[in-house]
Amino acid sequence: MLSLGGKTVAVTGGAGLIGSFLVEDLLALDARVVVVDDFSTGSPAHLAAVSGRIELREGDLEAPGVAARCLDGAQIVFHLASRAFGVGYGAKRHLEICLHNERVTNNMVEALAARPPEFVLTVSSSCVHRDDGPDTFPELPVYDGEPERVNSGYGWAKRFMETKFTMLSQVAGVPVAIARPVNIYGERYRWRGTNSQAIPMLVHKVMSGMDPVVIWGSGRQRRNYMHAKDCATILRRLVEANAAGQTVNVGFEDTISMADLVTAILAATGANVRTVFDTTRPEGRFVKSANSTRLRSIIGEVAPKIGLRDGLVRMTDWFRGLPEEDRRPLHG
Ligand SMILES: NC(=O)c1ccc[n+]([C@@H]2O[C@H](COP(=O)([O-])OP(=O)(O)OC[C@H]3O[C@@H](n4cnc5c(N)ncnc54)[C@H](O)[C@@H]3O)[C@@H](O)[C@H]2O)c1
Repeated sequence: MLSLGGKTVAVTGGAGLIGSFLVEDLLALDARVVVVDDFSTGSPAHLAAVSGRIELREGDLEAPGVAARCLDGAQIVFHLASRAFGVGYGAKRHLEICLHNERVTNNMVEALAARPPEFVLTVSSSCVHRDDGPDTFPELPVYDGEPERVNSGYGWAKRFMETKFTMLSQVAGVPVAIARPVNIYGERYRWRGTNSQAIPMLVHKVMSGMDPVVIWGSGRQRRNYMHAKDCATILRRLVEANAAGQTVNVGFEDTISMADLVTAILAATGANVRTVFDTTRPEGRFVKSANSTRLRSIIGEVAPKIGLRDGLVRMTDWFRGLPEEDRRPLHG
């Protein structure tokens, strides 16, 4: 058991959706938390409640020297900073996303090799998996076929990241764990317009009064969803459990279809609108869920604390709190 209390813990991407919940989780353990972020998608608002209790080191990890400066003195590092958007964005910008994430990876690995901390957890993605793999995937080998097609730039960058962090572990003797979250959502989502991920996009469409609501794909595609706060807790527990050398899915077996997800969003919002499925739009792989056997074997029994119904209510509150310019109706 690795105790985080009293340790200096750096969280890259700590102002983001998952990262900001992780920061709160670590503070509750009395860790000294250093947040590293460039606010490209993260927001100071996500850290407002804890701003007096963290050290903020603002910087773009793509830039030379920033990683070394921002990680100085960190005993434990959670690496979450990454460029990640919905499929509408990623599908058109594979090279841009791959290069951004590669530069961040290279700078991080160099800085960590120069001054190895006690433990590193780096956050990869289920997008490293092939499209034609099992519906409920175990931790497949990282170079098994092509990564998820609609996210291939992102998927390749995450594959390279996993490889480089594994090399870092071997060369510099740093214990490294690799987490592969599945579909994470939550109310600290930075609205990305038509490039947003599925749940914020659908909540936004429904609550903006779009009628009919246009849903990308057939509506039959199924996903496992986890709230970011639950994901953050699991990331922390993986470090506490000293999961060095392990690659671990952060997701579960149960799924909901896109059509049922929309029905649940309509119930959460009280809206009564028609739905249309646009099969010309990308929908990604048909079923995506994770085998959680390895996760459970490492951290013990685990169940999400925020069920989808509660999570969707939190998302409707998120929508109400969006600035006016981000709340204009989406029609297209
Ligand atoms: N949300 C999901 O469904 C999901 C699924 C699988 C994996 N992940 C991974 O989890 C991690 C966190 O994702 P998230 O959903 O919280 O996304 P997010 O966009 O909310 O968080 C990413 C954070 O990294 C920061 N960042 C990005 N580029 C940076 C740079 N060059 N320098 C410094 N900071 C930078 C952003 O400002 C943001 O605060 C990412 O690595 C992502 O790839 C997310």
